[in-house]
Order: sequence, then C-alpha cells, then structure tokens
Amino acid sequence: MWDSTTKMAKLITNGIESKDVNVRLMNTRKCHRSDIITQVMEAGAIVVVGSPTLNNNIFPVIYDIMTYIKGLRPKNKIAAAFGSYGWSGEAVKILNKKFLEMKLDVIDDGLRVQYVPNENDLNKCFDLGVKIAETLKEKLL
Ligand SMILES: Cc1cc2nc3c(=O)[nH]c(=O)nc-3n(C[C@H](O)[C@H](O)[C@H](O)COP(=O)(O)O)c2cc1C
Repeated sequence: MWDSTTKMAKLITNGIESKDVNVRLMNTRKCHRSDIITQVMEAGAIVVVGSPTLNNNIFPVIYDIMTYIKGLRPKNKIAAAFGSYGWSGEAVKILNKKFLEMKLDVIDDGLRVQYVPNENDLNKCFDLGVKIAETLKEKLL
C-alpha cells in the first residue's frame, strides 16, 4: 500500500546478494502471476514471500499467488515470510501456515515490521537475507 513491505524486500535481497547468491525480486504490481510462479518453480530452493496485513489477512494478490504455488506442489524448497503491518499483523503468521501446508522448509519465524521500517528494522531484513542465503548454500552442499 505504501511500499513498506517493498523496502523490506529490497534489504532482504541485498542480504542474499551479499553472500553471492542469485536473487530475483518480483513485485506483484509489476510482474504477471505466471512469471512469478515460473521463477518460483525454477528457483534452486527458495520461496520468500512478503505481504502487508490487510483486514487481518494477507494481501489479495499474494493470496492468489500462494494458491497457484500450492497447486504446483513445490518440493525441496526453503521458505520465509515478511511484511509490514499496523496493529494486528496477521500476514506473516498466515504465510507461515501456508508454507507448512505446502510442506516447505520454513527457516525463520518471519519478519514483521510495524508501519515504515526504520534503520534497525532494515538491518534485520538484511540479516534475514544473509540467513536465507547461508541456509540455501548449506542445503545445496
Ligand atoms: C484498508 C487497510 C486495512 C488494514 N488492515 C490492517 C489489519 O487488519 N491489521 C494490521 O496490522 N494492519 C492493517 N493495515 C495497516 C497496514 O498493514 C500497514 O499500513 C502497513 O505498513 C502497510 O504496508 P505496505 O506499505 O507494505 O503496504 C491496514 C491498512 C489499510 C489501508
């Protein structure tokens, strides 16, 4: 809605890249669902999904994409969720539940930031990116 989740995504991306792991940031406003799903299925072993909380739920376009990903039964992938929220912040919890239903390997409780991320929050996003990259490297060894 106001790009707070996008700001988080960019720092997670930077953290992943800092460990020389290829990452593709895909914005649901700009990328077609089919392109996102193709990238998810071709990715080495990773699904990272961010969503703000909207009316105690995940964003509708993220719900749409998660439904399609689930239908394709991705295997052997790690997952992590993140998102900005205002007061109740259910989105990350809902995403984690969906990951588990898909039997993905959820490597982190997920990162929630209230409203606009500050410098400390952005550092945590970067660190999550590093964790994702390191887990991925270990998995592929
Ligand atoms: C219509 C609307 C409904 C919202 N509903 C919730 C909600 O149920 N729970 C919550 O924690 N935040 C809610 N929020 C607040 C947003 O999650 C918060 O502003 C967040 O920072 C937006 O992130 P974004 O800039 O990445 O979209 C709502 C915001 C709007 C505009």
